[in-house]
Amino acid sequence: MDALRADFDALVTAALGSARAEQRRSDAAAQRATAVGVAGLIASVVLIGAYSHYLARAVVAPVRRLAGATRQLADGDLQARVPERGAGEIGVLQRGFNTMAATLSRQRSELAASRSRIVASADQARRRIERDLHDGIQQRLVSLVLEVRAIQATSPPDRPELAEPLDRLADALGEAVDELREISRGIHPAILSEAGLGPALKALARRSPVPVELDVEVPGRLPEPVEVAAYYVVSEALTNTAKHARASVATVRARLEDGRLRLRVRDDGAGGATASGSGSGLLGLADRVEALGGTVRVDSPPGQGTTLDADLPVTGG
Ligand SMILES: Nc1ncnc2c1ncn2[C@@H]1O[C@H](COP(=O)(O)OP(=O)(O)OP(=O)(O)O)[C@@H](O)[C@H]1O
Ligand SMILES: [Mg+2]
Repeated sequence: MDALRADFDALVTAALGSARAEQRRSDAAAQRATAVGVAGLIASVVLIGAYSHYLARAVVAPVRRLAGATRQLADGDLQARVPERGAGEIGVLQRGFNTMAATLSRQRSELAASRSRIVASADQARRRIERDLHDGIQQRLVSLVLEVRAIQATSPPDRPELAEPLDRLADALGEAVDELREISRGIHPAILSEAGLGPALKALARRSPVPVELDVEVPGRLPEPVEVAAYYVVSEALTNTAKHARASVATVRARLEDGRLRLRVRDDGAGGATASGSGSGLLGLADRVEALGGTVRVDSPPGQGTTLDADLPVTGG
């Protein structure tokens, strides 16, 4: 019996030993599996993080930059560009954007240059016509007036019937000279070339049917295209005031500030001016001023008068 018990104990001890060994093996296997799982998880997190970082650097940031540059471009800043470092389609987009912006910028410069050539050549033609009228037909008419007056002075006193027609002829010729002068002034104001902007604006103010308060502080002479543009701005604004505004007074202000000629023509009339109507005066002004790189703004709320602001860069001259 004792021998049997001893055998049984030995058997139990052996079974327990092998069960413990088995337990240790399976614990070790479970630990290994957990370690592999954790390592796999960490690797996945790292991979996802790295991929997100790559996406942010390679796609999101360049697309954001492109969106910002597109907004700049839409706001009129044609110098907007993006770095061309992107790969694949992003790079194609970046290069495409830069090419488009460069083309727009070049075309805008060409357009500005051609506008200013058109304005300059029209001004030149007007000046030539004014000179031709002044030196040609105007001088001829003036000498005819003098000739008629001379004939009048020497006509025999016994022919009184000649005196009146000669008088009428001299007056009519004199009126024709005045009309021609007026036309010449509209084509190109000689006073502008001869005396500069200040005196030319004074002449405009004197001719205006609406009283004009002048406040002009522009020392010396400015480049000719700027003087001509400024003259036509004030001339058109005062003509509009007389034609449309039913104003009691107009003010003209001109200042040279920070290398720019700033003009303001204001009236206290009906308001409601707009450059998109049937007339071409305000549109023509914008063309002329923008051709020189300047800006024109018309503020004309109904019933509150009209303010026209023009700002011209003064370069060259
Ligand atoms: N100072 C102003 N006060 C009130 N309305 C104005 C004034 N200036 C312009 N307007 C209005 O704006 C419109 C456009 O002016 P714009 O100078 O372009 O044309 P216009 O004077 O009618 O014709 P154009 O100048 O070609 O002889 C005018 O028809 C007029 O209705
Ligand atoms: Mg007009």
